Amino acid sequence: MESPAPAAVIVLAAGAGTRMKSRTPKVLHEIGGRSLLVHAVTAAEGTGPSELVVVLRHERDRVAEHLAEHASEVAVADQDEIPGTGRAVQCGLEQVTASEGTVLVTYGDVPLLDPATLRELVGAHEDAGAAVTVLTARVPDPGGYGRILRSDDGTEVLGIVEHKDATDEQRGIDEINSGIYAFDVAVLRDALGRITSDNAQGELYLTDVLSIARADGRSVRAVVTQDVMMVEGVNDRVQLSQLGAEMNRRTLERHMRAGVTIVDPSTTWIDADVAIAQDAVILPGVQLHGATDIGADAVIGPDTTLRDTEVGAGAEVVRSHAVLAVVGAEASVGPFSYLRAGTDLGVKGKIGGFVETKNAQIGQGAKVPHLSYVGDAEIGEGTNIGAATIFANYDGVTKSRTSVGKHVRVGSDNVLVAPVTIGDGAATGAGTIVRKDVPPGALGVNAVSQRNVEGWTLRRRAGTAAEDAARAALDSADRSAADAPASTDAEEHKEHEQR
Ligand code: UD1
Ligand code: CA
Repeated sequence: MESPAPAAVIVLAAGAGTRMKSRTPKVLHEIGGRSLLVHAVTAAEGTGPSELVVVLRHERDRVAEHLAEHASEVAVADQDEIPGTGRAVQCGLEQVTASEGTVLVTYGDVPLLDPATLRELVGAHEDAGAAVTVLTARVPDPGGYGRILRSDDGTEVLGIVEHKDATDEQRGIDEINSGIYAFDVAVLRDALGRITSDNAQGELYLTDVLSIARADGRSVRAVVTQDVMMVEGVNDRVQLSQLGAEMNRRTLERHMRAGVTIVDPSTTWIDADVAIAQDAVILPGVQLHGATDIGADAVIGPDTTLRDTEVGAGAEVVRSHAVLAVVGAEASVGPFSYLRAGTDLGVKGKIGGFVETKNAQIGQGAKVPHLSYVGDAEIGEGTNIGAATIFANYDGVTKSRTSVGKHVRVGSDNVLVAPVTIGDGAATGAGTIVRKDVPPGALGVNAVSQRNVEGWTLRRRAGTAAEDAARAALDSADRSAADAPASTDAEEHKEHEQR
């Protein structure tokens, strides 16, 4: 059944969260790559409300700025110095224009709550024609929570008693208030005007709305969730890690059910916003963060961390670390490489072992196979960069770009000193320091020619193993020279030309 959307959702996030012992406001702590508050707002948005209000007080400006950045559709309401969840909702309601319909109340520190559960709550609430419906759970250790007081036949909720106000008998009740409710907005506005702070904590309790509605002859219902973790809040960093692990477990399960192979869920961490296509394989020790997007049949890992990185279909990334990078379809990366922001590896391209790249467009089928640094560069399709080549992009003051054309062969151990351009189809010799442009089709070389000092080891390293080895090699070369016919003048001339 399609549940109707609520008129409004009010997310409470004014509390200080002192048990986090943090300079960061509690609701801005993250699990699964999003703040607790953005998780709560995302769940609220998933119900399609006409209005969405977040109530703030503690570190108000910092939290409001975070909301403006990550959830700009949300309205902010400020709670004043009067404490309590009742006051928080009263302040939130000042921003809500709806005069009829359902208002959901949720908490900013309950990250696992999902839109489906909220929609079910709205559906049950409206089907029953209730004034209030509270989401509850039965827990083995209800200490600290508000307890649900039910009518004799169990169908109606008579009220909620806070732990601190409860009798011993009431403390024996194992059904707790999750703090998540659906309210008829008119009933909520009216009842909030009548609550008092006459209780153990001297606060305005939202929970008192339920007994007031009952006293007015309205129906108050409960929906019991079996999923206790879903309504659990974060109060300290132990719970933060527990709910973080549970969120990760749920995220992995969602991907596996959608056709992704995850070999070792116990060492795999995937943020909530990551997308993974069918038949991708995630090997042990992988962390996928932020807006990372993995294509079909790609193989990631083992031991790979990707943040905000796009990996094309059929690509492979082995034991590497990438941030804000793009890896083309059927390309391969690693092992042991570091792809920094702006790396864009083309289709069937290769970034091999021990390579660092940054701000580099590497064309289709182009290869940087071994031990290189490629920064601020463009490399054309089909080009091969020799082992241990450095793109020297920084002179200590400015960064400059290097452009290497298509089907170029850069020799091993080159330094390409930017700004410099190597034309299409060009080549460079091993050990070249490329300071001047190499035109298309040219060979660039500037390695110093080699001079051999004959017999140096025999004279300067006498008595070492090196001397023994050299003498043995020279003796055996002499013997084979004596056996072989003398080389012709023509052959010697040819060899000389080749130098
Ligand atoms: C509240 C409920 C309790 C329920 C429990 C579930 C009341 C009176 N009690 O307990 O029945 O079992 O939640 O966790 O409602 N907040 C504000 N402004 C305030 C006070 C709180 O915005 O003045 C927000 C907090 O930021 C938090 C949420 O409300 O997100 C709950 O506050 P908390 O103090 O944790 O809950 P309790 O009042 O102890
Ligand atoms: Ca709490």
